[in-house]
Amino acid sequence: METIKVGIVGLGRLGKVHGENLAYNIPNCELYAACSPVEEELKFAKEKLGVTNVYTEYSEMVEDKDIQAIFIVSPSGLHCEQIRIAMEHGKHVFSEKPIGLDITEIERTVAVIYSYPKQVFMLGFMRRYDESYQYAKTMLEEGAIGELTVIRSYGIDPKEGLESFVKFAGASNSGGLFADMSIHDIDLIRWFSNQEVKRVWAIGKNTAYPELDALGELETGAAMLQLTDKTIGILVAGRNCYHGYHVETELIGTKGMLRIAQIPEKNLVTIMNEQGIVRPCSQNFPERFKQAFINEEKEFIRCILAGEQPEVNANDGLQSTKVAIACQKSFEENEIMDILY
Ligand code: NAI
Repeated sequence: METIKVGIVGLGRLGKVHGENLAYNIPNCELYAACSPVEEELKFAKEKLGVTNVYTEYSEMVEDKDIQAIFIVSPSGLHCEQIRIAMEHGKHVFSEKPIGLDITEIERTVAVIYSYPKQVFMLGFMRRYDESYQYAKTMLEEGAIGELTVIRSYGIDPKEGLESFVKFAGASNSGGLFADMSIHDIDLIRWFSNQEVKRVWAIGKNTAYPELDALGELETGAAMLQLTDKTIGILVAGRNCYHGYHVETELIGTKGMLRIAQIPEKNLVTIMNEQGIVRPCSQNFPERFKQAFINEEKEFIRCILAGEQPEVNANDGLQSTKVAIACQKSFEENEIMDILY
């Protein structure tokens, strides 16, 4: 079978995870090129990932005609432009979430994506490729908990990252807590319910690092969502988790409930010692979603080879970002926001 030559842009926290998988764990995939403005990251690509073609300029990498697919793991504010350029150069594109940070630019980008229907486009909502989330989705669709009434979803990052986030918050271009983190929970709510979000009310509090107030960033935020069929969505997002990386989702139906990762278990080990009964927890996203990242990367390559489009598409990127931006605005203005379609 053909091997797909991939060029990756961005080799930071997540880029290194994707880079390693694409180089070593994904069949029919060759990590052929890498782009980063940081010399050390290109050295990493050459020495650790075996990449021979390295670029400091994205515009040069996309000119390489041998590259069939681009993997975008750069800062969120760059995604839209990099997606458009890659599509216009005839490449298949995988982009990390969020698809972008500005709705007008996202709409323009989505139109470009859909104007190249033969090129695969996929967005990095990897939770949909996690075994437990897939299991819950199947149970829901089989009617195991009746009709859905509430979805509650948490995404709380470990406190270890908060100090450096506070330091670099202004420059991080994250799009704010809701676009950066809750976007996964928003996508799950849309995915599980097959509904769009109609109204949101978001609130937040900076307790551990009040200085985040001045930067317009949040340490902890929450939002209440009303979906088109009146299903209730509840989000909590944070950056100050003491026990590890806490991603948990609950579905309440008319005939039962499902909880995914009620305890963010690292493995099946239980420690019994002088502290009592201890369950080790996942400490970060690469650990918790290790297999989900591999599954989504495999799906991207499979779709290219099969000439199919993945389930997670450009519209999912647009709709989830609309909701995230409405949450951010709702928090800033302390008002309920309607989402316009
Ligand atoms: P990072 O800051 O650690 O890495 C960013 C990378 O982009 C670095 O390699 C940097 O050198 C590179 N870069 C910066 N400017 C560039 C430019 N002009 N051209 C090319 N490369 C450039 O960020 P991180 O945490 O790896 O996040 C990257 C993206 O992945 C973000 O959009 C983020 O939202 C997303 N992400 C998704 C996660 C998930 O759960 N699916 C988890 C973490 C991040």
